[in-house]
Amino acid sequence: MEIVILDSPKEVDEFVASQIVDLVKTKERPVVGFATGSTPVGAYNLMIEQYHLGKVDFSNLIAFNLDEYVGVKLDHPRSFATFMRTRLFDQINVKKENIYALDGSKQDLTQVCNEYEKLIENNQIDIQILGVGMNGHIGYNEPGSDLDGKTHVVDLQEKSITSSLNYGFTKIEEVPTKGITMGIGTIMKAKKLLMIAKGKDKKDIVKAMLEEPISSKIPSTIIRQHDNVIVILDKEAAGK
Ligand code: GLP
Repeated sequence: MEIVILDSPKEVDEFVASQIVDLVKTKERPVVGFATGSTPVGAYNLMIEQYHLGKVDFSNLIAFNLDEYVGVKLDHPRSFATFMRTRLFDQINVKKENIYALDGSKQDLTQVCNEYEKLIENNQIDIQILGVGMNGHIGYNEPGSDLDGKTHVVDLQEKSITSSLNYGFTKIEEVPTKGITMGIGTIMKAKKLLMIAKGKDKKDIVKAMLEEPISSKIPSTIIRQHDNVIVILDKEAAGK
């Protein structure tokens, strides 16, 4: 595991964006797993900037979304699919048919999960971008999740439900209580993981992720078992 501690959130964004841009420039069919949340947005903005400057072409990019709410249509303003579309995909030249998202509004979610697993099996993810939830979750793999799990439906825990108020929901009653997520096993199959954390609010969970025993109590501890993972922190997130 490589840990990179940078002075500012801006430098974290630059580091992450350059990892993705370099992959896209050098690989014929680059496959990237994208996370939502506030953490990666700065990197996405820099990718958009690079695209507008003509420095990178995303037409070959295959994109997978990491997770989604259950019971929310893909085009719902608060869905993670909409988040990724508006914050990144609509602003670069990735092809619509190359964007894969988990549809949590479908009746048969087992089928949605199985199909997603197959898709990822056939398109191994080169770089998976990850953030860490306040309770240590990765994607929506909450504490207690199977460390070998595949794409599945989860009951969201209170901390994750409350955190969703930062993602545009105004009332707690509006926040979905279930999520659908790539499993930890699915995430660990990516060739490379980029775990990003910024800000002082993350310093305790970052310390736990890096120092507590690897267990499903803190799902993000599992990343330490990946043989190609970079943890990118700003000074504040690295504070402990
Ligand atoms: C959210 C998402 C994750 C995200 C994480 C961190 O609940 N389900 O995909 O990585 O929590 O979010 P943030 O970057 O806003 O702290």
